[in-house]
Amino acid sequence: MHFPAVRLRRLRQTAALRALVRETELSVSHLVQPYFVRAGRNIRKPIGSMPGQFQLSVDQLIRAATEAARCGVPAVILFGIPERKDAQASGAFAPNGIVPTAVRALKKALPELLVITDVCLCEYTSHGHCGLVRQGKVLNDPTLAVLAKAAVAHADAGADIIAPSDMMDGRVAAIRTALDRAGHRDTPIMSYAAKFSSAFYGPFREAAESPPQFGDRKTYQMDFANANEALREVALDIAEGADIVMVKPGLSYLDLIWRVKEKFGYPVAVYNVSGEYAMLKAAAGNGWLDEKSAVFEMLTSFRRAGADIILTYWASEVARWLKSSP
Ligand code: PBG
Repeated sequence: MHFPAVRLRRLRQTAALRALVRETELSVSHLVQPYFVRAGRNIRKPIGSMPGQFQLSVDQLIRAATEAARCGVPAVILFGIPERKDAQASGAFAPNGIVPTAVRALKKALPELLVITDVCLCEYTSHGHCGLVRQGKVLNDPTLAVLAKAAVAHADAGADIIAPSDMMDGRVAAIRTALDRAGHRDTPIMSYAAKFSSAFYGPFREAAESPPQFGDRKTYQMDFANANEALREVALDIAEGADIVMVKPGLSYLDLIWRVKEKFGYPVAVYNVSGEYAMLKAAAGNGWLDEKSAVFEMLTSFRRAGADIILTYWASEVARWLKSSP
């Protein structure tokens, strides 16, 4: 069968027809809103490179999350900015550190909202690397114990999902073991499994005040040229006990979302990262493209590629858009 019997335009004639045969839906239930949280009160400090995003004190975080939850956003992920950084990343595992404090407040105010915590050291180390450093080298094995302590502190505070983003080898197993020992057998791990060393994290490092003070992250985050290695990273994290695996960034890695979903059939998350947010915001701000249409197209492409979960700075805004004109 082919033209003229086949005419694909027949099913594109009206909005109702198009909706009837639409293969991929973007719904709010898959979205996760990231927040940057810091000590203090009544702080809502704009992040220059991420228009519409802020560093929030806990009270302002509750306000923002309440509004997000009201629009149907089911989950948030927290990044902490500690008052002090040191070489040991002490702030990362302090039971009363900024993230556990924020988690407790969120779970109290909004018990239904899923609270995910990013587990990494870069926001807490004076040198800005994701692991402990000795003689200019990022150490793998000594970092694992610190990450595990951070994960337990977050789970003790009530975090619903633990999300390690450091890219040390063996961290999922270390965190799983520590969580189980601490009685958190039922706390899922969403690992940043295929996390690439990417220029698209630039704005995040301003937001989280976490740029590396020397060198770069290429000795632990992946080379963006490698796909087979990404599948090995995912396989290892699954073997170590990851419940959800993430591909990060999103736009330049749709092939990997697809391949990870095809190969493993696990729940897949994608992180629509800060640089992806910044470039679209900049273009929209200049009137060069329509923000809402571009965001829907982009987020739908993540779902079409196979992502179940989308971490995006637009989550709350998309929830509002979906509510006003679904
Ligand atoms: C921490 C972390 C980063 C991001 C998420 N967790 C930054 C980095 O690895 O440098 C990036 C998120 C974004 O760019 O939106 N390791």
